[in-house]
Amino acid sequence: MSIAQEIKKRRTFAIISHPDAGKTTLTEKLLLFGGAIQTAGAVKSNKIKKTATSDFMEIEKQRGISVATSVMTFEYKDLLINILDTPGHKDFAEDTYRTLTAVDSVILVIDCVKGVEEQTERLMEVCRMRNTPVIIFINKLDREGQYPFDLLDELEEKLNIRVRPLTWPINMGSAFQGVYSLYEQKLYFFKINKTKVEEDVVEIGLEDEGLPKLLGERDAKQIREDVELIEGVYDTFSETPYQEGRLAPVFFGSAINNFGVKELLDTFCEISPTPQPRPTTVREVAPDEPKFSGFVFKIHANLDPRHRDRIAFLRVCSGKFERGKFFHHVRLDKNVRFSSPFTFMASAKNVLDEGFPGDVIGLYDTGTFKIGDTLTEGENFMFSGIPSFSPEIFKELINLDPMKSKQLEKGIQQLTDEGVAQLFTLELGNRKIVGTVGELQFDVIQYRLEHEYCAKCRWVHMNISKACWITSADQAKLAEFIRLKGNQIGYDKDGNPVFLAESEWMIRMNKENNPAVQFHFTSEFK
Ligand code: G4P
Repeated sequence: MSIAQEIKKRRTFAIISHPDAGKTTLTEKLLLFGGAIQTAGAVKSNKIKKTATSDFMEIEKQRGISVATSVMTFEYKDLLINILDTPGHKDFAEDTYRTLTAVDSVILVIDCVKGVEEQTERLMEVCRMRNTPVIIFINKLDREGQYPFDLLDELEEKLNIRVRPLTWPINMGSAFQGVYSLYEQKLYFFKINKTKVEEDVVEIGLEDEGLPKLLGERDAKQIREDVELIEGVYDTFSETPYQEGRLAPVFFGSAINNFGVKELLDTFCEISPTPQPRPTTVREVAPDEPKFSGFVFKIHANLDPRHRDRIAFLRVCSGKFERGKFFHHVRLDKNVRFSSPFTFMASAKNVLDEGFPGDVIGLYDTGTFKIGDTLTEGENFMFSGIPSFSPEIFKELINLDPMKSKQLEKGIQQLTDEGVAQLFTLELGNRKIVGTVGELQFDVIQYRLEHEYCAKCRWVHMNISKACWITSADQAKLAEFIRLKGNQIGYDKDGNPVFLAESEWMIRMNKENNPAVQFHFTSEFK
């Protein structure tokens, strides 16, 4: 098969949701359709149910599970579909943001009872930054949820995207009858047969006289009115605005009952984008270019003490990856090759000989990779669009054992290369400030420093609320600002200056007083 044919076959996407909306359940149903798993319950949720600060066994177990289920590949209707898993726990949101840089589209799961939740808004902001196409699945229709039109309004308002329903629910909760597919003109009946839920399909137009007999007078009238309203208010669905990330088709269903999932999957197969071109520091790279290129978007520590190596997740962006072939590691300017790269089929790892755009390849790594690293077939560009976001909690790392300062240094460098947290070094005294999005990471780092690097540390809370990367067209003005702010300036891992601000107010004031300096909330800016 040619590279073009391989590309056409592939779909790489992530399912995102606020914890508990049903992401794991939906993933499992999709895998069942693809035959990648045989039984329900095979996919374990990787959410950390405990909010306890230090149940490390739990963290380790969860991390162990999530590596196995990080990428799930299955075949369906001649397509090769890669689902990239995203951690549900808020404290690992950075991991999710980075995973979103490696997909071509997303399915967003919304709980119809809770509507748009905080975590969803933030994840969608990241999708909006990259114009990632989104399909929305409104889940748990077997429960008494919010009025569907209110849900759509909320989606448009909070997620800043236009929506278009492709199916429509007939009642909810105990009176839930099923969904009507606006495009296929089919009724999907939700039938509970003893303990099993069945999906009965009836092809019927809304004007058909038989409709009231099927649904009852009241519900038939309601669906006719609802659809009239939908046709009047919402634009007709078309693929271009969806693929450009401006319009999100909406489906209704119940993942746990496997209801509405097949329609979602079938539509996904029809409309979702194939592997897309990606921006780099030099030019845009098209997937069908003959030369291989790809980038690392995730690094996972191997928690098996017998194998201390790490696993780097590489997204193939162009050409063909081959086992054993030398590729160019752009940042290190050296050639590297991999003798046992692997792919993920459900939870099993298989050695991989060739990889094509859209594929995610697991590479054993002994510390040569950082998040964002690029491999090419000789060219010197780095993939862009994999920014760091400002952390929310900042603590100073204090070494508790002066004899082990080298180990501590190495440990914190490696852990932050993995993307567990961000490291900022203050000019004064080489003090190390670690920034994260959640408290849990500080416990993870402390535990891993002790167990993997034999280094002991403690944390001192810093009165910092945001990190802003600073730039200026006038280098003298930037240098002056850095000199004046002294202890509030740190340097990120690439040596870029960062203003560590106490509050939003502080940022605003400094912006006003220093018009020549630009403040950025992500590490990449134009
Ligand atoms: P997440 O990955 O997004 O965090 O959510 P997950 O799939 O784990 O689902 C969260 C809870 O919602 C689970 O219940 C799951 O069974 C339930 N759920 C998923 N889809 C539906 C649905 O369509 N209808 C209803 N009523 N519930 C649904 P749990 O009690 O937290 O876990 P479990 O003990 O059932 O596994």
